[in-house]
Amino acid sequence: MWLQIVTALVGLALLSLADTTGNPNIVFILTDDQDVRMNSLSHMQHVQDLLIREGTQFLRHYAHAALCCPSRVTLWTGLHAHNHNVTDVVEPYGGWSKVQQVGLHNKYLPVWLSEHGYNTYYAGKLYNGYGEKNYDSDGKYAAGWTESDFLVESKAYTYYDSVFQHNKGDQHDKPRKVTGYSTSIITDATLQYIEDSVTDNTPFFVVAAPIAPHTSITQPPVPHPIPEKKYDGKLSGLKVPDAPNFNPNQRSGVNHIRDLGQITNTSYLDFLDLFHQKRIETLLSVDDLVREVVTKLEDKGILDNTYIIYTSDNGFHIGHHRMAPGKRSPYEEDINVPMIIRGPGVGKGMDTDMVTSHVDLAPTIMNMAGVDPEPEKHKLDGLGLKFPLSNSDEFEQAKNTRGEHVNVELWGPFQQEGRGHPKVEAIQSFKALRIQRDDYDFMYSVWCNQTAHELYDMKSDEYQMTNLYPADGASNTQNILGRPVQQLVNRLDAVILVQKSCRQDQCRSPWKHLHPDGQVHNLKQALDVKFDEQYAQYPKVKYDECFMSTLYDPAAEGPQWDDVEASRLLMRDGLPWDAWA
Ligand SMILES: *[C@@H]1O[C@H](CO)[C@@H](O)[C@H](O)[C@H]1NC(C)=O
Ligand SMILES: *[C@@H]1O[C@H](CO)[C@@H](O)[C@H](O)[C@H]1NC(C)=O
Ligand SMILES: *[C@@H]1O[C@H](CO)[C@@H](O)[C@H](O)[C@H]1NC(C)=O
Repeated sequence: MWLQIVTALVGLALLSLADTTGNPNIVFILTDDQDVRMNSLSHMQHVQDLLIREGTQFLRHYAHAALCCPSRVTLWTGLHAHNHNVTDVVEPYGGWSKVQQVGLHNKYLPVWLSEHGYNTYYAGKLYNGYGEKNYDSDGKYAAGWTESDFLVESKAYTYYDSVFQHNKGDQHDKPRKVTGYSTSIITDATLQYIEDSVTDNTPFFVVAAPIAPHTSITQPPVPHPIPEKKYDGKLSGLKVPDAPNFNPNQRSGVNHIRDLGQITNTSYLDFLDLFHQKRIETLLSVDDLVREVVTKLEDKGILDNTYIIYTSDNGFHIGHHRMAPGKRSPYEEDINVPMIIRGPGVGKGMDTDMVTSHVDLAPTIMNMAGVDPEPEKHKLDGLGLKFPLSNSDEFEQAKNTRGEHVNVELWGPFQQEGRGHPKVEAIQSFKALRIQRDDYDFMYSVWCNQTAHELYDMKSDEYQMTNLYPADGASNTQNILGRPVQQLVNRLDAVILVQKSCRQDQCRSPWKHLHPDGQVHNLKQALDVKFDEQYAQYPKVKYDECFMSTLYDPAAEGPQWDDVEASRLLMRDGLPWDAWA
């Protein structure tokens, strides 16, 4: 009996030794514009079987800026867009050249992982505007990758015969056209890298970033994404899933979105269905990528010591709130994105409603790799997940130590994709907040144009059709969570005030900064009557100036939290709050 126990204990000790020798490998699969709300994942059988069933799905995972380049810079730096200032997909305020200009081509995750002994590899689309001419201008190439094959514009979204640019150490090859389907090329390159990397016994961080299901950009133009030939037409007849906010009878949203007419052109509605079908068909090739990567890891005997993360840079809408295909909005379709993790210490076949977002992923990967976040060096705005997360207690504990909020922001013009929709010239800069716990779930937004606001109670209105913001028709006497709407709005406004320019800890713990005495940790506690006066006194979030460009100029954006905090310090010396009224 004792012998058995001793043998079991020795066995356990050996097991845990085996588990901790060698840092885990990490494979990151990043799609482009993939939605959650149109059920794209339900068409991906291998993602279902190999990731969702073998890992954990994060149902409340968000992109902070529903636009490729700002969102991707956030993913790889752990910074909010207002801190990295890459606010667009093109020059002068966005794209790869802006990344080079702000010096983030060599201060980001792969650099930190390679300093920590990881081999790093990237295949596919890194950033928009990574072009033939600027990929290494002024010697500023994308550092940190042991090896990489980046898609190059203007031939990044062609699906077939795209242009790639290969790097290895100090060698940066000229871009060249690679014949074939881009997702398959990215798959093969990823498998090859894993194959080669396994032999040198060094842990790896590998990113596979296909362009699917982004629309195509080709000459001559094709107005939708282009599936791999074997999948083209496979889902013929598929329609955009019906939802209360899909081309609704009643107006919804604010400003130019509220002004949109209902789509009545039936050939255009057919086109929207075709657009959706083609998107999903391109994802079938990504589904193959997932299967082949898992198979390769299994063949090499390293699957159990490898994390696989699956997500997308931002979501997508097709006809929601009467909008043509596109992203950039603060609505749920655009910001809620797929997020699945499988790997050591990750619950199998589980899902969680803890709130997570893209700013948390760089620190999560650092945790996986054993790199300690340093405030001075990494300046991270997010909070990493820590593993194990494999049973309900661990999830509950993690949920209680994490925030309940997501900061959502974007600057610039309203833009729609695909053909055949009326042109609308409007400015779409906004600050928005998603905030959710077991007993509440809200979206609140403040827009630049005419300072329109939105407040949706997502528990009863998950499609965001009824704006509860008092000025927009709802009666001021309505109660939410037992308090007048205005009291709720005062709290949400204050959280946005902290979030819109937050850095590091401010971003993770806004309540701590609103209540430095540590009395308040969530919205429910902040709603206490005794704080009404405090919240009534904060300056309201507003813009002083709106731009048709994606310029982020803090001087145009009204009250700033740092000034409020400074004034609170003054108040301690006897100066009153209402200096702010
Ligand atoms: C962001 O970049 C623009 C353009 O370079 C600059 O004018 C602006 O001041 C920057 N914003 C911040 C917060 O640094
Ligand atoms: C502001 O909103 C109004 C009202 O919906 C809209 O008509 C107008 O185009 C918007 N203006 C800009 C500059 O976005
Ligand atoms: C209706 O939609 C089709 C397909 O997008 C487009 O070609 C056509 O011009 C539209 N008709 C009208 C009257 O807008």
